[in-house]
Amino acid sequence: METVRDMDRMRGLVERARAAGRVVGLVPTMGFFHEGHLELMRRARAECDVVVVSLFVNPTQFGPAEDYDAYPRDFERDGALAEEVGVDYLFSPGAEQMYPEGFQTSVSVEEISKVMCGAIRPGHFDGVAAVVAKLFNIIPAHKAYFGQKDAQQLVIIKRMAEDLNFPLEMVAVPTVREEDGLAMSSRNSYLSQEERRAATVLYRSLETAASLIESGARNAEVIRGDMEKVISTEALVNLEYIVICDNIYLQPLPELSGEVLVALAARVGVARLIDSMVFDVE
Ligand code: PAJ
Repeated sequence: METVRDMDRMRGLVERARAAGRVVGLVPTMGFFHEGHLELMRRARAECDVVVVSLFVNPTQFGPAEDYDAYPRDFERDGALAEEVGVDYLFSPGAEQMYPEGFQTSVSVEEISKVMCGAIRPGHFDGVAAVVAKLFNIIPAHKAYFGQKDAQQLVIIKRMAEDLNFPLEMVAVPTVREEDGLAMSSRNSYLSQEERRAATVLYRSLETAASLIESGARNAEVIRGDMEKVISTEALVNLEYIVICDNIYLQPLPELSGEVLVALAARVGVARLIDSMVFDVE
């Protein structure tokens, strides 16, 4: 595995691989790897000839009062893990290279960036969309791998890629969970032991939704109500939202039908956690 810091070198390597007929896969990340990240890399490894992982803690997607400085980082460990999985290139540019003086451009995927997490973190998804657009240009891959865990991010990136004609295939990878169901996240490292235990209620509330839907429930208010009841049993968990919507426009669905996204966000101590499930409803 080679660590690449320079974006011109990175693009050159990918262009040469493409010219040689090799299929290139990109896995964008902010590092502090866990099994969720590694699963994306394994999937890319299985499907592509050349695997590029980008590791860049993108300052523009953090709000002024958010955890950019505190965001966990362990470059050495990340490098070793990526190498173990068989990654070819770890692209890790400096912030000054990604955002040189004079940088002005923003990428805004309008309506779907304003709801759910976008309502609570204004500007967050503009930062995500811009950095992913930059990565797609620096690393002209055939396929890009994203986690279903960040459901809204996935919907927004798919929309951006389609709207801006990025010729990459988007691959969605199912959420990787701890044994007790908690979705893996770099931010789980912020949880105390008590909070870590309480946080499993998020998954349990999604399971409640799953079994209601399985047994025929179609009314969003009923499902949300039961999920809220489950979450209210944990005093350490402060619910921000539960949204039941379609999985393309993120419009609320009073009655469930088609591909339905059930997504939630909550604060547990200083950590802001999100989780979701997608259901195919007849
Ligand atoms: P980061 O939070 O590091 O996540 C990188 C990728 O890993 C994302 O596609 C995310 O959805 C996926 N991922 C995280 N936890 C997962 C889990 N438990 N199961 C499956 N996939 C999981 O998301 C970002 O970075 C950034 O916003 C980024 C897209 C890199 C832009 O800066």
